[in-house]
Amino acid sequence: MKLLTNKHIVLGITGSIAAYKTVTLASMLTKAGARVDVVMTESAAKLVAPLTFRSVTGRGAYVDDDLWQSDSHVLHIELGQKNDAFLIAPATANTIAKLAHGLADNLLTVTALASRTPLLVAPAMDGGMYANTATQSNLETLAERGMTIIGPAEGHLASGLAGKGRMVEPEELFGRLRLALGSGGSLSGRKVVVTAGGTREPIDPVRVITNRSSGKQGYALAQAALDLGASVCLISAPTCLAAPFGVELVRVTTAAEMLTAVLDAVENADALIMAAAVADFRPADPSGEKIKKADGIPGITLEAAPDVLGTVAAIPQGRPRLTVGFAAESQNLSRNARAKISAKKLDLIVANDITSPQAGFDADTNRVTLLWADGRARELPLMSKLEVAEQILDVVVDLLEDL
Ligand code: CTP
Repeated sequence: MKLLTNKHIVLGITGSIAAYKTVTLASMLTKAGARVDVVMTESAAKLVAPLTFRSVTGRGAYVDDDLWQSDSHVLHIELGQKNDAFLIAPATANTIAKLAHGLADNLLTVTALASRTPLLVAPAMDGGMYANTATQSNLETLAERGMTIIGPAEGHLASGLAGKGRMVEPEELFGRLRLALGSGGSLSGRKVVVTAGGTREPIDPVRVITNRSSGKQGYALAQAALDLGASVCLISAPTCLAAPFGVELVRVTTAAEMLTAVLDAVENADALIMAAAVADFRPADPSGEKIKKADGIPGITLEAAPDVLGTVAAIPQGRPRLTVGFAAESQNLSRNARAKISAKKLDLIVANDITSPQAGFDADTNRVTLLWADGRARELPLMSKLEVAEQILDVVVDLLEDL
């Protein structure tokens, strides 16, 4: 099933040239399975044709004239009351002022007044207009009423000047909408700590010992937890991935840094999901200077790196209510993984056979077996890492309910 299937999103578009970027957003949302209805002001329709939106969404792109058609008395109520999220992007200073004062003089503002979901508003305007006290005070009013103000960003403006006033990019708007859709989900009010990526242990200032973890499974877990409304702390070793919108991202490099960050984050956490590939060994005495080739091949002595889950298991107070570990195995998957459940006091372990094709490091798919502390086991078929993450989070929800 696609991510946003069954979600109905209303996109309000006002008269800023950034409206062309909302076409991309409308397309992204539609591809993710959402039903997207567009409501445009008269000036927005001068910049981008309603037909453009209709073409990418396959649904309505309404303008003021539609308010006065035969079934007009229901259109704004339909759109306002049946949406799961309502985003106005771009939102001009004029529309923001109207919203702040409860004006309803066009289809968009009348629909906004009728909406039952809190509005998301992405301002786009000239820097001076944005900085103006009137606009600032209107935005404060909207925020006080529970609306979410997204941006604006800094950079090149349509006026040719640079400053704060650019609408944020469609990718961020997509992430923020996703966050809004997740609020009120089965993990809302819960704090979930997720670790991801492979740690790096220095040999000298240039070289490191690391592993092949890409971080993809951990990042997917963070996203899946956000989608269920959790507040998520993502503790990440270096990766090339963009953090999901809405996570509290803590960047670490070594196993020791990961341990400190995890101990800090789990104190009031409901769940810790340790997807990171943490080093088991590290150079005992990393060199402060770059090791020179001319000095010959160095002998590197290794020592044990801290075991993060082992340390969390041993803390007397402040442990997370639930702990999920991962086991990357190349042989005796179940036996080795079960041994880790008891050694690390886990409620659930996610075991993956790293020799399995299309699974494990760097792949976009994974094939895992879930093993519960009480002896239950469930083998999952090959699926995307986000689907694996959703399955794991469903188990986390169940386990937390039973606690
Ligand atoms: N882990 C950890 N700290 C370490 C190593 C691993 O917290 N220094 C966590 C991993 O994040 C994972 C679980 O422990 O959730 C199991 O990791 P894995 O590497 O499979 O097992 P190890 O305990 O390191 O044992 P081995 O490498 O011998 O299989």
